Amino acid sequence: MIKNIVVIGAGTMGNGIAHTFAQSGFKVNLVDVSQEALDRGLKTITTNLDRIIAKGNLTEEQKAETLGNITPFTTLQNAVGSADLIVEAATENQELKLKIFGQMDEFAPENCILASNTSSISITKIAAATKRADKVIGMHFMNPVPIMKLVEIIKGYSTSKETFDAIYEMSKTLGKVPVEVNDYPGFVANRILMPMINESIETLYNGVAGVEEIDTVMKLGMAHPMGPLQLADFIGLDVCLAILNVMYDGFKNPKYAPNPLLVNMVMAGKLGIKSGEGFYDYSESKKAEKVAKMFSK
Ligand SMILES: NC(=O)c1ccc[n+]([C@@H]2O[C@H](COP(=O)([O-])OP(=O)(O)OC[C@H]3O[C@@H](n4cnc5c(N)ncnc54)[C@H](O)[C@@H]3O)[C@@H](O)[C@H]2O)c1
Repeated sequence: MIKNIVVIGAGTMGNGIAHTFAQSGFKVNLVDVSQEALDRGLKTITTNLDRIIAKGNLTEEQKAETLGNITPFTTLQNAVGSADLIVEAATENQELKLKIFGQMDEFAPENCILASNTSSISITKIAAATKRADKVIGMHFMNPVPIMKLVEIIKGYSTSKETFDAIYEMSKTLGKVPVEVNDYPGFVANRILMPMINESIETLYNGVAGVEEIDTVMKLGMAHPMGPLQLADFIGLDVCLAILNVMYDGFKNPKYAPNPLLVNMVMAGKLGIKSGEGFYDYSESKKAEKVAKMFSK
């Protein structure tokens, strides 16, 4: 029976995952190495709960209960002692994730399931950093987590049927729609999405059209709710770059090579919404308005 959840990382995804579990009644320990990230994460959860209240879908009492279900931690070891499920949503970096999974394996109870929200890193490789590969699985939530219905459930080479079934069923209790996927680079979502984002950056790089024009073509021409360049800003350009590199390395296929403009923007610290600037400007005055618009979709 899964009751106690630990979420590792309080960034874009981690705070959304913690929010979703807490609003569904689970006790959540939220861990980040950065106190600032924890504070920011909890503030984001509060703002997002207020937004749900404003839409008439939550009461003040439920908000207080949800926030009361979340306890912040800055040390993994102190947070995982009674965990039934840990969902890792730390920075998309293979070495870091292998290290975190080693620690999770060392400090979490024997029966605890270890899930990763990685966008692209091999679940099989992550599982090999533990002594419980049968209990390691991918739980790939979409952004913004409290709103998006999909969870890709990724089976590593050694993931047991018992682990898969437990996570598949519990995803439904969160109001999500789980989809079963095998463990290959980019899984399904990013294998299809990232080449489109990369191609839209290539189109900009080649001077075929401007940022707004490319996004407008895809929004109005293909009925996408958001243009690919705005979506890249929303995901984080560093995350997009990391995913493309994993697919490039994993398939040894040049079609996944990240466009040089994306590489340059990440090196320059232009990471999208989270840094205040990407393909669009999210300076303080414009930021709240843009994010609110995205959430209202
Ligand atoms: N951004 C998206 O749209 C999106 C969508 C689906 C999945 N993902 C995946 O989710 C994961 C997190 O991405 P994000 O966009 O939230 O990144 P982010 O940069 O917003 O947040 C990452 C957080 O991890 C924390 N962190 C780093 N090392 C840590 C450690 N050792 N212990 C605890 N916390 C640590 C950082 O301080 C930061 O707050 C990545 O694996 C990413 O690929 C991202």
